[in-house]
Amino acid sequence: MDIIILKDAREASKEAAKLVAKLVVEKPHAVLGLATGGTPLALYEELVRMHKEEGLSFSKIRSFNLDEYVGLSPDDPASYRHFMDENFFDKIDIDKRNTLVPDGLAKDMPAFCEEYERRIKAAGGIDLQILGIGSDGHIGFNEPASSFNSRTRVKTLAKSTILDNARFFGNDVNKVPLHAISMGIGTILDSRKIILLAFGKAKAEAVASMAEGSVSSSCPATILQFHKSVSIFIDEEAASLLKNRDFYDWVNKHKFC
Ligand code: PGA
Repeated sequence: MDIIILKDAREASKEAAKLVAKLVVEKPHAVLGLATGGTPLALYEELVRMHKEEGLSFSKIRSFNLDEYVGLSPDDPASYRHFMDENFFDKIDIDKRNTLVPDGLAKDMPAFCEEYERRIKAAGGIDLQILGIGSDGHIGFNEPASSFNSRTRVKTLAKSTILDNARFFGNDVNKVPLHAISMGIGTILDSRKIILLAFGKAKAEAVASMAEGSVSSSCPATILQFHKSVSIFIDEEAASLLKNRDFYDWVNKHKFC
């Protein structure tokens, strides 16, 4: 794991955006795995800026989103399809037909999830997966006790996640769907590269467990310790409980290559 600690979310997102842009330039047909929520907003903003001001093109990029709430239609303002269109896809030159977000209204959920996996495979697999982390250590909607081998399926949201996400539903916990389609942990681990972003004090405990704790499905993100190419971009607050903070700064200062 590369653990990169920067002053704030904006600085960290700018650095993460450089890695995304590098891939998009080197491999114009790359397959991106994308995330939603508060965390990746500054990353998308920076990529939109690079598109507008520096000509970074996404025209041949294909993308798969991590998750979607069950029961929300694509035009529901709280749906992740709506989030992606509003914050990223509608502001760049990506071909929207090449952007896949799980269908929260799919009639046959198990069949839909199988097809989602098949489509990721048919696209050649995910080159770069963007992740946030839940305060309970989830990645995607893979809540504690999710199998490390899991594939795309419907998950029940943890109570803490419902509370965390109520802010996207007018602070009404009763409006947060109980279920979501989520790529599995196995699906995420198949990505060739992973960038995880985490900002703010509320993420400090989960970040410390992920980077320095024992691997356990009680904190699903700990499995990223087994992935061969993970870059973790965090701000000072999210880094505040790391025991080996000095070492991470030392490594970044003296990076080989
Ligand atoms: P957030 O969610 O970005 O809204 O904090 C992150 C996550 O749940 O993965």
